[in-house]
Amino acid sequence: MSGQRPVGSPFDAPGRPKRESSPGEEVAQRLEGSPPHAPGQGPHTAPVIAIDGPTASGKGTVALRVAEALGWHVLDSGALYRLTALACMRRGATERDPALVARLAGSLDVRFNADIWLDGERVTDAIRTEAVGNLASRVAALPEVRTALLERQRAFRKLPGLVADGRDMGTVVFPDAGLKVFLIASAEARAERRHKQLISKGISANIEDLLRDLQARDARDASRSIAPLAPAADAFELDSSALSIDQTVQQVLRWHGQKTAGRPMDSPDELAG
Ligand code: DC
Repeated sequence: MSGQRPVGSPFDAPGRPKRESSPGEEVAQRLEGSPPHAPGQGPHTAPVIAIDGPTASGKGTVALRVAEALGWHVLDSGALYRLTALACMRRGATERDPALVARLAGSLDVRFNADIWLDGERVTDAIRTEAVGNLASRVAALPEVRTALLERQRAFRKLPGLVADGRDMGTVVFPDAGLKVFLIASAEARAERRHKQLISKGISANIEDLLRDLQARDARDASRSIAPLAPAADAFELDSSALSIDQTVQQVLRWHGQKTAGRPMDSPDELAG
């Protein structure tokens, strides 16, 4: 496979500047006033697999499939930011009023089952529009909003385990996750996937607009001062541009098995067709 990073290696492998901790991990310490939890907490703490990455990298689908395979819970943290954005739209709030947006985030009446519900209304599709995604990215840059959603996200951590996807799962929300994956794909591959997704839902979309939008969103998510989109220092990077969903899921499960058994982590190179 071309374009594959030094696979099976931590993100800080040779070729990357060595970091003591990522910006997100420093934020975790600031938010909580204490260092991130030590890896492998007490015996009753549910294990976590953190899957972070840019928009449309496929992390939502991969997280769901990994959770299904393991019989674990799943957290789509982006949905919480999208729900906050939708609540803002409905009340005419914008990122220019951080206190109001944080209040809305902290008091979201949400329910997750096969669908996603806000104030008793099914909003599974409503939160997936580009307009909601763009506002989600803007409100997600507000520290007040991230603080308001922190404990809500951690409450999803239950036995037998949790697969959590987002931008800062491995750096801020679950810094002690047993396995951290940073899932990437080229902007073109991601725009194409998003395009197919929208078309299959009967929503018309222009691939150039989608590409521009996701590049702008990546830039905003990666450059914000709080919990930016960045791999944890101990994350394993997986480029899914040339992988099927099945291959991506299998690689994450393989890494999980290896981590749990204390075996060396392997390379996903041979997975690519
Ligand atoms: O993963 P997504 O596209 O559904 O996320 C929507 C927005 O929410 C995304 O642009 C950035 C923000 N987000 C975040 O800041 N932190 C997370 N853990 C998840 C999402």
